[in-house]
This record gives sequence, C-alpha cells and structure tokens, in this order.
Amino acid sequence: MCGITGYIGGSDSTAVLKSSLKNLEYRGYDSAGIALVDDTVEVYKRQGTIDDVAVPTDCDPSHGIGHTRWSTHGEPSDDNAHPHTDCTGELAVVHNGIIGNFHELKAELGGHVFTSDTDTEVIPHLIEEELERGRDLYPAVSDVINRLEGSFAIAVTHADCDAVVLARQDSPLVIGHGDDGMFIGSDVTAFVEYTRQVTYLEDGDVAALTPDGVTITNDGTVVNRPITQVTWDAAAAGKSGHDHYMHKEIHEQPHALRQSLSGRLDELAGEVDLDIDIDQEVLADIDRIQLVACGTSYHAGLFAKRLFETLANVSVTVTRASEYHVTGADDPASTLALAITQSGETADTLSAIREAVSMGARTMAVTNTVGSTVTREVDDTIFIQAGPEIGVAATKTFVSQVATLALFSVYLGRTRNAISRNDAATFLSNLRELPGAVQEILDAEGEIERLAAAYGDGESFFFIGRHLGYPVALESALKLKEISYDHAEGFAAGELKHGPLALVTPETPVIALLTEGTEPQKTLNNVKEVESRGASVIGMASIEESTAFCDETVDIPDIGRMESLVANVALQLFAYHIAKNKDRNIDKPRNLAKSVTVE
Ligand code: G6P
Repeated sequence: MCGITGYIGGSDSTAVLKSSLKNLEYRGYDSAGIALVDDTVEVYKRQGTIDDVAVPTDCDPSHGIGHTRWSTHGEPSDDNAHPHTDCTGELAVVHNGIIGNFHELKAELGGHVFTSDTDTEVIPHLIEEELERGRDLYPAVSDVINRLEGSFAIAVTHADCDAVVLARQDSPLVIGHGDDGMFIGSDVTAFVEYTRQVTYLEDGDVAALTPDGVTITNDGTVVNRPITQVTWDAAAAGKSGHDHYMHKEIHEQPHALRQSLSGRLDELAGEVDLDIDIDQEVLADIDRIQLVACGTSYHAGLFAKRLFETLANVSVTVTRASEYHVTGADDPASTLALAITQSGETADTLSAIREAVSMGARTMAVTNTVGSTVTREVDDTIFIQAGPEIGVAATKTFVSQVATLALFSVYLGRTRNAISRNDAATFLSNLRELPGAVQEILDAEGEIERLAAAYGDGESFFFIGRHLGYPVALESALKLKEISYDHAEGFAAGELKHGPLALVTPETPVIALLTEGTEPQKTLNNVKEVESRGASVIGMASIEESTAFCDETVDIPDIGRMESLVANVALQLFAYHIAKNKDRNIDKPRNLAKSVTVE
C-alpha cells in the first residue's frame, strides 16, 4: 500500500503536495517524491520521507503529483521511489498497487531504458509509446490501463498537458473539489484539511482533472460520479474515519488479500507464479519444510502446515522461532527452512533462520517488508504485499500470510507433482473467493458487535477448533488477550476433554470453529460437552447444524478449505469490540510491541 496525492489549481502546489504526503505516511514511508509541472516536469524523490526530499521553494508549478511508498517490487531506494518517468523525462507517473504482468510488458518494451526495479516503471514507457503514435494523454492512458493486470491507482502528468489523468482498478482513488483547485488522494486523508467535498472513483474509471473540475469515463463512456461530503475531521484522518488503526486494518483485508493474490494465480490453468528463484528441481527434492515464526506468524505457520501437507505432500514442522534448534537428524540437502515474519526483523526468527543457514539448509522468508533484514539472509523471499500495518495486533498481515503460503503450497504441489492441475484449479478458485467472503463478514459487523456486548464480560474465553480450525482458535484467543487483557485460550477441540474441560463454567463463553476443513461434526460433540457444563457457545459455522447446537451462530460463507480464515476475521472483530467496550488502548496494548528485536 502506498499513498498518492496530486493538486491542480491556484494555491501553492508544492506546499499542498508536501502536506498531503505527510498525511498519507501511514500508508507507507520508505521513500517519497513529487513531480512538479510547469511546461517541464521536474521530479524530486528519494529514499525516506517527504521531509528528506530536497524540493526547491522558489518554483511556482501549475500542478503536480506525489507519492509516499511502501515497497512491493524493488527495495526502498532513491531509484525505486516514485514518480517514475518515461525516456523523454516529460511524463511522470505515481502508482499504488501491483502490476501482475509487468515482466511480460517490460519484455515488450525493447529499446526503453529502465532505471528502477519497480513494476510501476512499465506504465510511463507504455504511455510514451502511445504518445509517440500521436495520441493525446487521456486516450493513451485509457488504452494502456487495458493492458495492465492486477490492481492499480495511477496519476499521470505530462509537460504538454494542463490536466492530471487518473485511473483506478481495485485500488482506491479519491478526488477533492476545493474552492481553489482540485485534489487527488489515495484516500480523503490526503486533502481533508483543504476540502471535504469528494468524488470516489470506481473500478475502470479514467479521469481528467483540471483546475475547474473533472471529466470521468468508464469503458469509453462519460459517467457522472456523485460529490459527497465527508463528515469526519482531520483528527480521524490518518485512520480514514475509523476509531483505531486495528479497525481500519481489519476492514482493509479484502484489499490486502487481493494484493497478496494479485497476478500470482491462474485458476483456469491450476498454476501459481510466485517469481521464485530457487530451482524447481531443488524444491522438488525437498522432503521437509521447517516453518519458524513467532506470535501471530506462528499461527499462520500452523495453518500453512495443513496446506503444505495436503496440497504438496511434504512433511512440515512448525516451531516457535525461540525454540528452534538443529538436530543431528536434520538433513540440510532435503530441508527448506522458511521464516514467516511480518516485519522481517523479529530477533527470535532471525536467530532461527541463521541457525538453519549454518546447518546448510535452503532458506526462504515470507514477509511483508521489502528490504528487511530477513530478506538479506535467506535464499529467496515471497512478499505478502499486505501494505503497512500500524496496529500492534496483527490482522491483515495474518490473512495475507496464510493466503501467500496457500499459493506457495500449490506452487510446491505442482512442482512436486503432488496435486493435479484440476485439484489445484479448484483450490485456487476457492482462494479467489476469499476477499469477497471476508467482505461479507465485514458487512455483518453489527451482529458481531452485538455478540461482543452480550458475551464480553465472561471470566475466560475458550476458542476450540480442529485441523484448519485449530490455528484460528489459537490466533483468535491471542487477539482477544492482546487487546482486551481478558484471559483467553485456544484449544484443539478434541483435547478439551483431556484437561481444559475442568475450567469450563457458565462464566466461560466458548467459541467453536465449525467450518469446512475443521471436522465440524466431531467438534459438535465438544460443543455438547461444554454446554452440559453450563457454558454458552458461539458457533462460527458454515454448517446448518450449528443453529441447533449452539446458542449463537455467525454464518461463514461457504468457500471450501479457507472458511476458517474467514471466521478468523469475524473473531478479530469480536476481540476488537470487546476491547473497545472496555476502553482498552487497542492500537498500542500494554507491554507489547509491533516488532520485537531482542531475543
Ligand atoms: C510481536 C507482535 C506480534 C507478532 C510477533 C511476530 O510479538 O506483537 O503481533 O505476531 O511479534 O512478528 P513478526 O514481525 O515476526 O511477524
């Protein structure tokens, strides 16, 4: 996730762009830049924040665009910072999102000189080719976006054009109508201090912005998008109107998932493309994966273990990174050690991966953070592409970790001939349904808020699940304890009767995972066990029997093996509302840190 801004009008464009970029830094802050237009295009950019960029104060541009970056393709650096230009230097582009087919497009752009490792840079060069054919900027952008796969919001300026051209597909872009010009933002936060009159672009829209207004087309037809009044104030701006970053990040999950999947799966062909450098023959010979991780990432590992074992037929161990140690039984030649870490900086995880490197094993990382320490120490990295996460409690990065590991499971399964093309295709189409299913849960937030109010005063909370439900039970309990400070535990549902049942009373709500891949019929027996001790049960269910067995049921959309991940989103909201009702410091829970860099 990155931040885009732009301005065209009578005010001081440079000052507007700089303040807008400061407002957008929560979307990414590893590099920044602006392009100022006044007969020429001047680009100022570098690694760091906009405060680090030397922008002259004596220029008076008519308009400009800006960008604050969270790296997805190419590490944070001066060259990879946006805006990106074409070979003439007269065209500048800022982009948020991921161009899934940029390798193919780059190969078609013979003769063009590229100066960055980004996917974005193909866009100005593709537009340049259209302009060389004598086209105007607006039709040129309209044609180019039809060739882009993935998600994008772009803003384009050219020295010879007195308009800014915008386009959006699966990545937000908002226009602000000011008294003295027009504003652009990835969200309203960018310019809410200047205007609250906004127009939200929709997927497929291309817009031309002049100081006096905007013209929008979609599929070649002029469309009218309404102007709406934003009600929230500048204080809530960084959170886009949400009370907490965690709530905002929970709601960003459909988008984060689309970004994780973008350009990587072909459900018709049953294939996955993850840009992995390790030779396929080497991966085919791996017979043990050692997953190492901490906290929420460890739970993503437990979920992934099931997927690797069933989709890739490979045996997997999942170890809390602080407990990892190499034994004489480990065979480095056939072992892949894979670190799962949102930050890429967790000391325990780095220490484990260093031990695996010293053993001589192949190593990989699944992380959210381009340029992080772990990426420099492993043989290969897969990025989850979830965008920056500010709330200490991990939410969107957990679902994106699981989705990315699911893709890697299919990739490995196909490489090892462990899964047929047809079975891979079925699983990948379920994966494609994940963002929509998560959105359904978010749309039903009122019901989960009601459950949080009704059951939030329990003495302890127990989450139970089997198989793909077990990691979700653990993660949901962790989320609740992290932000509400209530006692909560996750249990393998079948294990309840071997001890934890002694803790169950009428004061201990039990939340049961009853979705596909969790053996829900067996878990219903455990539901009866706790109910007969007086506990209330909330079923997170895609099976009809839940309503007969449980006191309450949250319906989980029927999307196959990934259903319990969708249930996890409902339980993030459950934890959030319990903590909110108790007035906890949700984004910064006591004693916890986002990234723990000591062992
Ligand atoms: C800290 C955070 C957790 C996170 C864990 C691992 O404890 O508070 O939310 O899951 O570190 O972080 P990583 O960046 O390695 O995923």
